[in-house]
Amino acid sequence: MTEALLKLSGVHTHIGEYHILQGVDLAVPRGGLTVLLGRNGAGKTTTLRTIMGLWQASAGKVEFDGRDIGKLRTPDIAQAGIAYVPESMAVFSELTVRENLYLAARSGPMDTGRLDWIFSFFPALKKFWNYPAGNLSGGQKQMVAIARAIVEPRQLLLIDEPTKGLAPAIIQNLAEAICQLKGQTTILLVEQNFNFVRQLGDSVAVMDDGRIVHSGWMAELAADRALQERLLGLALDSHQ
Ligand SMILES: Nc1ncnc2c1ncn2[C@@H]1O[C@H](COP(=O)(O)OP(=O)(O)OP(=O)(O)O)[C@@H](O)[C@H]1O
Ligand SMILES: [Mg+2]
Repeated sequence: MTEALLKLSGVHTHIGEYHILQGVDLAVPRGGLTVLLGRNGAGKTTTLRTIMGLWQASAGKVEFDGRDIGKLRTPDIAQAGIAYVPESMAVFSELTVRENLYLAARSGPMDTGRLDWIFSFFPALKKFWNYPAGNLSGGQKQMVAIARAIVEPRQLLLIDEPTKGLAPAIIQNLAEAICQLKGQTTILLVEQNFNFVRQLGDSVAVMDDGRIVHSGWMAELAADRALQERLLGLALDSHQ
């Protein structure tokens, strides 16, 4: 694999009295799209929140671009170049798409070049530019949420389960948009929908019970039914 932009080594996270992450080892190669799969409660969101400093790791190392960010505060981690799109669609419903994006541009007005760049992945945002974001479809709201995260240049984009609650046709739109975005920035994408990510991912890590239980190339996992069943069957069936 190519050099890692983000690397977690032996990361443990406690939430109150609960020991949630139990030694996470995860490498996100620079420039690619890495998928983090795993059943409900496996620790995927906790991993992203730990990377962002929203939970403090109790042990282990989080390195970003060769720098130890494990002790930084969340705003400093964002400043270092990591953007985070949380699980629920983080948009202001009463504000227009334009206002949603302008509010997210903390360091001043966005230049038109950057906007055109964003519209090239998410043409729907241009179309609904002056509409209240609350009127958009679920998939379009996710596009607003992702666009908000990239209005300022970031080296790494963390996206948590963007397909949650979306209809299949909308998921397809979102897949196309993320496919366009891929290659422009490094992405760590949390998902449970294997069909959504099997085409998108370059590399993949599977999480269960607070640990990474598999990591490798997505193409290998996508081609290996027995491995899928072992990892995802186990991960997706055992928690109903
Ligand atoms: N604020 C919290 N307080 C206590 N326990 C928590 C808290 N947040 C998460 N947990 C627990 O940590 C474990 C991992 O949760 P996490 O949200 O990271 O899972 P996940 O893999 O993102 O699941 P999902 O696919 O359902 O989003 C779960 O057992 C969950 O109950
Ligand atoms: Mg989650």
